[in-house]
Amino acid sequence: EKSGYEHFMLKEIHEQPQSLRDVMRGRLLPEEGMSRLGGITLSDADLAKVERITITACGTSWHAGLLGEYLLEELARIPVDVQYASEFRYKNPVIEDNTLVLAISQSGETADTLAALREAKRRGALTMGIVNVVGSTIARETDFGMHLHAGPEIGVASTKAFTSQIVALVLFSLYMGRRRDMSVLEGREMVEALQRLPDQVEEILQQTDDLRTLAEEFADARNFLYLGRGYQFPVALEGALKLKEVSYIHAEGYPAAEMKHGPIALIDEEMPVVFLAPRDPVYAKVVSNIEEVKARSGRVIAVVSDDAPELQGKVDHLIRVPQTVPALLPVLTTIPLQLLAYHAAILRGCDVDQPRNLAKSVTVE
Ligand code: F6R
Repeated sequence: EKSGYEHFMLKEIHEQPQSLRDVMRGRLLPEEGMSRLGGITLSDADLAKVERITITACGTSWHAGLLGEYLLEELARIPVDVQYASEFRYKNPVIEDNTLVLAISQSGETADTLAALREAKRRGALTMGIVNVVGSTIARETDFGMHLHAGPEIGVASTKAFTSQIVALVLFSLYMGRRRDMSVLEGREMVEALQRLPDQVEEILQQTDDLRTLAEEFADARNFLYLGRGYQFPVALEGALKLKEVSYIHAEGYPAAEMKHGPIALIDEEMPVVFLAPRDPVYAKVVSNIEEVKARSGRVIAVVSDDAPELQGKVDHLIRVPQTVPALLPVLTTIPLQLLAYHAAILRGCDVDQPRNLAKSVTVE
């Protein structure tokens, strides 16, 4: 069942080139620089009326939702807010006419996400789902949506579902963006970058031995910080969550520049700091955040997207991922963080597929 892999988590990490091909299959229109989404059964006229999107989810799916905010605002110019489903369901959410509520869930059964969705429907919202499990409750109760087609995810820690959620959100942003003010040339560039993505993930997966060596150096750490900006901020949150849940090392994710408003007090020679620093529009800003950490003797692991000459000799470890458009870099930078968490957990003797206190699908409040 694990097809030769020692754990489902490792198998599912390695399945990502395939799960990414599957979420894109039949959905790319290279000439038009567009996506075709058969599950979005809304008329063009009704789609044009969407003025605001509220995304609701839990855990890793909430991190994908946060990326959805950056993606939809940047590519489709639609205002987005992202809410924890457990908060949304008990506050008094403002749902205006023309608000679309988007629920993101791997299982389609998470109790809080389902309750948030039902509350949104009660208030007359149009609802959409991005769900992996076909026929699940959230898939059935939303007005329309997209399936991930990632195949079953057995490991409790979500891996392949997260990267497929990101790509689904890119496809949806393209779908909305090209109906608004995204040019055909921008659309084509995105489609071409999407087509390259599975092979780029494959390339990163070949670094698994390097990441094991890195994990050996840090497996005894008691704390970790993960920092990123823009599209890499949600990746920082997800990297920290993955490490916490499978290796039980305490970790926090932060927007890199928020560090100086408090967490910088934690930095000393004991503190590993993972910086997400691929080449994107905020790269130079992230480099100066790295310098702030090095000035306080933190141990820096930087995930970069090329040779990063600015960082040579300045950081303790460089992890390289291939270059792509900024909107797709989160898929690539996530992979080494999954592997780092996996190897750290194994070295610490943890049960990666069944971490203590966690269940795959949280169907109670
Ligand atoms: C973390 C993880 C959880 C889930 C969360 C939502 O690795 O798996 O945080 O993401 O419980 O689950 P779904 O996506 O099934 O609604």
